[in-house]
Amino acid sequence: MAKISQHFLYAFLLHAVLISARCQATSEHPKKHVVPFFIFGDSILDAGNNNYINTTTLDQANFWPYGETFFKFPTGRFSDGRLAPDFIAEYLNLPLIPPYLQPGNHRYLAGVNFASAGAGALAETHKGFVIDLKTQLSYFRKVKQQLREERGDTETTTFLSKAIYLFSIGSNDYVERFSTNFSAFHSSSKKDYVGMVVGNLTAVVKEIYKNGGRRFGFLNVEPMGCSPYARAALQNSTCGCVDELTVSRRVKWHVVALVRTEES
Ligand SMILES: *[C@@H]1O[C@H](CO)[C@@H](O)[C@H](O)[C@H]1NC(C)=O
Ligand SMILES: *[C@@H]1O[C@H](CO)[C@@H](O)[C@H](O)[C@H]1NC(C)=O
Ligand SMILES: *[C@@H]1O[C@H](CO)[C@@H](O)[C@H](O)[C@H]1NC(C)=O
Ligand SMILES: *[C@@H]1O[C@H](CO)[C@@H](O)[C@H](O)[C@H]1NC(C)=O
Repeated sequence: MAKISQHFLYAFLLHAVLISARCQATSEHPKKHVVPFFIFGDSILDAGNNNYINTTTLDQANFWPYGETFFKFPTGRFSDGRLAPDFIAEYLNLPLIPPYLQPGNHRYLAGVNFASAGAGALAETHKGFVIDLKTQLSYFRKVKQQLREERGDTETTTFLSKAIYLFSIGSNDYVERFSTNFSAFHSSSKKDYVGMVVGNLTAVVKEIYKNGGRRFGFLNVEPMGCSPYARAALQNSTCGCVDELTVSRRVKWHVVALVRTEES
């Protein structure tokens, strides 16, 4: 589930956010007008946090050939090269955004990456092996606290309100549910389950919003039912996709609704 290619299904939303951000980033005093970039989510965005989780071996990308085409060594990204946030950071004239757990990164002037491969919005998803979304939020609170101590409340609020917050979360919640108990996935209300996943994501977005965050980008949940993993797990789906897992439309609708609610 961690080895999925990138999808940029929220291209429209993200593009709009980035264009307005870039205009500010390239204004007269680029240093003062840096647009910080905070990243939350799963393997689509993880730049290496899982390298520092000792209980994890499954959800790590710290071996060859990961990283071979760009970094020339495995950084922990689930990619042979860079991930979407690396390109976005470059576009915003920011340095590569480091993983939160990487030792030595304690400034956060350009933001920080909290994403963890295998993570879900639900604490139960791959529990003990990943940094779930709520824990990622608790790391964000620590960053905020440190910034407040260093720069004061007003400057911190300004800093957090001009930042971009990028999310990719949910796929692992659905795949975990599917792979651990397929009959439960069938019998329990899928609508309730999606509601729980989206509810937990909403809570995180709302807290960031309360702290000043206004620029959010969401990647859609991939068509998980088409992944080789999902197709192999079901003996009888040798062709086509597992429709039960491809819930992206519903999730997308929820997220769009959420963003509209917050804007109004
Ligand atoms: C993980 O392992 C490293 C190296 O052995 C150690 O320094 C670190 O304290 C460990 N972290 C946790 C959370 O156990
Ligand atoms: C799977 O879910 C079903 C329905 O909720 C439940 O009866 C069953 O005990 C579960 N199986 C396992 C292995 O958890
Ligand atoms: C968040 O997920 C937990 C399960 O981890 C669930 O009990 C809770 O109701 C969810 N919260 C919301 C707001 O949906
Ligand atoms: C697999 O086969 C079973 C039994 O025929 C069927 O109930 C189920 O829907 C099939 N699953 C998929 C994904 O085609």
